[in-house]
Amino acid sequence: MSGLALFGGEPAASAPPPRYRSMGPAEMQAVREVMESDCLSGFYGSPGPEFMGGPKVQAFEDAWRRHYGVRHAISVNSATSGLVAAVGAAGVSPGDEVIVPPWTMSATAIAPISYGGIPVFADVEDETFCLDPNMVRAEITPRTKAIIAVNLFGHPARLAELRALADANGLTLIEDNAQAPLGAEHGRPTGTIGHIGVFSLNYHKHIHTGEGGMCVTDDDRLAERLALIRNHGENAVEGLPVDELTNTFGFNLRLSELAAAIGIAQLADIDRHVGRRERLAQTLSEGTGDLAGWRVPRPRAGCRHNYYVWMVRYDARQTGVSRATFSRALAAEGFPHATGYVRPLYLLRLFRERKAMGRDGFPFTLSNRTYGPGLCPVAERLHEREALLFEPCAYDLDDAGIARLVAAVRKVHGARAELAGWERRQGGAADA
Ligand SMILES: Cc1ncc(COP(=O)(O)O)c(C=O)c1O
Repeated sequence: MSGLALFGGEPAASAPPPRYRSMGPAEMQAVREVMESDCLSGFYGSPGPEFMGGPKVQAFEDAWRRHYGVRHAISVNSATSGLVAAVGAAGVSPGDEVIVPPWTMSATAIAPISYGGIPVFADVEDETFCLDPNMVRAEITPRTKAIIAVNLFGHPARLAELRALADANGLTLIEDNAQAPLGAEHGRPTGTIGHIGVFSLNYHKHIHTGEGGMCVTDDDRLAERLALIRNHGENAVEGLPVDELTNTFGFNLRLSELAAAIGIAQLADIDRHVGRRERLAQTLSEGTGDLAGWRVPRPRAGCRHNYYVWMVRYDARQTGVSRATFSRALAAEGFPHATGYVRPLYLLRLFRERKAMGRDGFPFTLSNRTYGPGLCPVAERLHEREALLFEPCAYDLDDAGIARLVAAVRKVHGARAELAGWERRQGGAADA
């Protein structure tokens, strides 16, 4: 007998791993300084020097601009806000199509709807889980206005190829870089290869400010539009040399001085925060990469993967055990993980029933596109049958802690024949 914890044996990793803590003395000091200044936000939503925010917001944007080598960094209060602003800045009009991947956090596909845009789903690649440029190409129509590529789980989409495709078709490429703060494709930082890159600084990310985000661009006009949309732009267009009015009405998407001050400290230490997660994921890959039916992440040549998520492609045909049973045994050993990521977004009711805004279902009233099962078979297979996820960002693990997780996987994998027998006696596999 294997001594599997599922059957009453000793777990390989008994205690849950401690949570990763990223707030240190520098962040404490930064917050104290803002509190002492008594200026918690420097923004005014009207023309004047305060339109671009207070001293910490501007210092944070300066630091971000230098770090990523871009002309403009515009902070926002979340990546969701950043995506909305990016879609607006791209000039998306009601009925315009925006190509997005289906396997991502919902904000990627909802942002276009905020301007009446129609999300069009293109399938992802098998290996990287990011947009497949061939699928994107097949979806481009005269109504297409933009592409949102997601650098999913910390791995770059085929960004140079997507940028060339966007440029050739007069489209704006927006990078949803929420999960890949230090990702790179052939030495170029993710977030800076599209026309606009959007970063997330929410609590779950490699570096964070509680809630927050950043948009970057090298395009002066897009930068101006992003800044207007962030801050009640309708009040400011009179005083600014903005060339047209489309989508320049604004919201309050502003970052506070407290969050910006924390962000400055987090950015100064970004190499350590990201590096720790990368090492954790790489050690898991090295320790389990030889197992049959257990395909660890394989970054594409020339790419840096930040491992927001370490995703294994599980193959039940090779292990002989369903993903559900393997996962149960793994959880019992103390390996925190999930099966599947999010259901492909086109399966959300909002898409299936084509109802986003108002009683009639605007903006879908402007389009014949329909949504339902089968639209993106790769994403569906990955989600329903193969994905097994671990979140390196959530935990603080030393070498011994990582070794226990590796041992947990190897123990369950080594007992797969026993698990298969148990599964048969239970009446068969719980999933494919
Ligand atoms: C791919 C992706 N896009 C967008 C978002 C939205 O980020 P935020 O919570 O900062 O709005 C997230 C958040 O998890 C994400 O993972």
